[in-house]
Amino acid sequence: MTREIEKIFIGRTYDDFLVRPELGVVSSRRDVALAAPLSRHLLVDFPVVSANMDSVTEMQMAKMMALEGGIGFIHRGMSIAEQVDMVKRVKRSQGYVVEQPLSLPRDVTIREAMEFIRQHHITGILIEEGRSSRVLAGLLSNRDIPWTDDHLDHRVDRFMTPRGRLVTARPGIAVEEAERVMFEHRIEKLPLVDDAGRIAGLITKKDILLSRQLPGSSRDAKGRLLVGAAIGARGDFLERAAELVAAGADVILIDIAHGHSRIMKEAVLAFRRQLGATELIAGNAGTAAGARFLADLGVDAIKIGIGPGRGCRTRLETAAGVPQLQAVREAWCEVGDTVPLIADGGVKNDKDIFLAIACGAATVMLGSMLSGTDEAPGHVIEDPATREKRKIYRGMTSPQAVFETLYDEDAGQPDRWQPNLGQLDPAALAIPAEGQEVQIPYQGSVLSILHRIRGHLRSAVSYSGGRTLAEVRARIAADPARYLIPLSAAARGESYER
Ligand code: XMP
Repeated sequence: MTREIEKIFIGRTYDDFLVRPELGVVSSRRDVALAAPLSRHLLVDFPVVSANMDSVTEMQMAKMMALEGGIGFIHRGMSIAEQVDMVKRVKRSQGYVVEQPLSLPRDVTIREAMEFIRQHHITGILIEEGRSSRVLAGLLSNRDIPWTDDHLDHRVDRFMTPRGRLVTARPGIAVEEAERVMFEHRIEKLPLVDDAGRIAGLITKKDILLSRQLPGSSRDAKGRLLVGAAIGARGDFLERAAELVAAGADVILIDIAHGHSRIMKEAVLAFRRQLGATELIAGNAGTAAGARFLADLGVDAIKIGIGPGRGCRTRLETAAGVPQLQAVREAWCEVGDTVPLIADGGVKNDKDIFLAIACGAATVMLGSMLSGTDEAPGHVIEDPATREKRKIYRGMTSPQAVFETLYDEDAGQPDRWQPNLGQLDPAALAIPAEGQEVQIPYQGSVLSILHRIRGHLRSAVSYSGGRTLAEVRARIAADPARYLIPLSAAARGESYER
């Protein structure tokens, strides 16, 4: 279903349009669903993703984005080992099943067990037959530990609930079934044991309750948070991808400045050869031809945006670029909903997110809007004169980011993260800088920003006369000229100058 981009979009971006209000039909905005496909096989409840930049997404941001129903992409400006560690920590942070529960052998003392429990902030510990045998011998819960000091030097197996009296289940048990078993036996911990009697996981009541409290969060089939990770298209990118996937990354993003390129084609083909059907996003493209090129390579989502980002200098330095709403629209007119589009960069106000989605994007990637928060990497700096608090936000090809992370579009990343000493002079870089560093007002937790965006998106759906974002998007994207109002300079002034 290829169609010609409508004339109203040529040379236009977010601040060039308002959306015509329609008869409102929702009784409570809280009921407005915002779910969208992130990629061909992954759905999110909240259509916002955090940018793979070293001043935006590391572990904390990725965790919070997934808890709130979106997803974060951990950047690649670090060694493979460091990026893998971050992915593992997000995956381990929550889930119905603790995949590799901690355990102690049956001959340790109560004193050692108590110290272990305190160190790891756990409420009970699985006991195994011999050191590292992983064969389940019993469970020592807080209740089993003697209150008095008389038994500190006795072995734990005197006090644990032995295997014969424990309720256990097989690995792969569905969460509903696990809940039923736990309630039936009034237990809070359900060890999972394989045919050979080896420990294969642990389900706890606490983890199930936690995930219930946030029903809209983005999770995999085991209840673990979803996380994405970025790679490049050269050097060690395949090794990086394989290790990230092995660590549990749910989706890989091949992210290069000019994704409509032969380098990208080779990278996607090599990725598919080695990693098969692993969920794969590629970008960036900014034209219909670019979107078609990536769609034909069979990627699972396409990231759209050439130069709209707050930390970008690409358009200033090279004149290459496409106004962001035009880019999104061109791509959608070309590929429709066959591949989800991620509108990346240039979002200054929450209404831009709604416009991007209404015109064809499935989700929106944010950088600067999220970077002034506690969850973004980097320290808060305070202006001694004004006492204003700020955080640094920088383009990934800014001289500062390149200097610190050896982030080089034309090369792979090094295996060890070392300062790129001696290369701060942009003239010395392989490619002259197309990014810059700016300071963003400090905004506290990213939660308040995400809640604000969610509220505004729901209101936008209501003003547009819909019940869900998907329904409004389908209507506007099919016939934008009917719903969008192009703005004159005076109308823009009336709308945005306050
Ligand atoms: P916002 O506007 O949300 O944009 O801050 C985030 C996006 O900006 C892109 N990005 C860059 N683009 N040079 C560029 O031309 C850079 O150094 C650079 N760093 C990030 C990226 O697509 C990000 O998601």
